[in-house]
Amino acid sequence: MKPKSKVLIIAGSDSSGGAGIQADIKTVSALGSYAMTAITAVTSQNTTGVKSIFSIDPEEIFNQILFTCRDIKPNAIKIGMLHSSKVIASVIKALNKIKISKIILDPVMIAKGGARLIDDNSIKILKNKLIKKVSLITPNIPEAEVLTNIKIKNVEDMILAGNKLLEDGAKNALIKGGHLKNKIVHDVFINKNEIKIFKNKKISTKNTHGTGCTLSSAITTYFSCGKTLKKSCELSTKYVNSAIGSNLDYGKGHGPINHLSSIIIKKKFR
Ligand SMILES: Nc1ncnc2c1ncn2[C@@H]1O[C@H](COP(=O)(O)OP(=O)(O)OP(=O)(O)O)[C@@H](O)[C@H]1O
Ligand SMILES: [Mg+2]
Repeated sequence: MKPKSKVLIIAGSDSSGGAGIQADIKTVSALGSYAMTAITAVTSQNTTGVKSIFSIDPEEIFNQILFTCRDIKPNAIKIGMLHSSKVIASVIKALNKIKISKIILDPVMIAKGGARLIDDNSIKILKNKLIKKVSLITPNIPEAEVLTNIKIKNVEDMILAGNKLLEDGAKNALIKGGHLKNKIVHDVFINKNEIKIFKNKKISTKNTHGTGCTLSSAITTYFSCGKTLKKSCELSTKYVNSAIGSNLDYGKGHGPINHLSSIIIKKKFR
């Protein structure tokens, strides 16, 4: 098959392959599109933790975005973790130059274990400038709490937080419910006209490394192919659920999900 669309991913590298740029490239490819990248940081990590983080110079991030897009124009862009205010500023500068309208932002701020990954100033710029420029933001529950100052304990609180994000300038939001302790996971999609709740079975596993990166890349891919944002979110929650369900169980810690669960290999390539 020929790729159905082209997607640019702006995010950090995860050497263990479960999250970050690696998860993003696998997801975009597994769903049939062409992936390009602008790498913001290089991490040395495995399923048990992060050993070190090496930041890429903001000017170099700007160059990756501009030089890549000037040659092969993406249909949509996915933005993952932007770890400093300088990085956010250079990404905004590049986005202003390339003028792509379909942008999905995964506002990665808080790790699975609760640790803050970016400083307060970066959160402020993200909230005041970047969120307004993108088509959709996909915070998890702790991130939605930080962005809205609303404590989230249930789906009603997720809707309240979603409305606050819209008031603050977001066009669409998908609040991810993976952190709530229910038998069903609820992901809340919201914009000025509608609220849609996607429900999937909560899978009991420790292997959920990279679910958030994978989800936002899947949404970007479907959206880049012309599906509506709501449909893109619905299909992506199903893709992630199936990827978690395959339960690869790689590594000693929080292992990766199976990005390839959507792929069937032709007989002649087996
Ligand atoms: N145990 C689970 N079973 C089924 N679906 C899950 C599970 N955990 C998370 N999900 C789904 O995975 C997607 C990502 O949600 P989550 O809340 O985990 O994001 P996140 O915290 O940003 O992830 P990450 O830790 O990778 O950044 C959502 O669609 C959510 O419903
Ligand atoms: Mg996340």
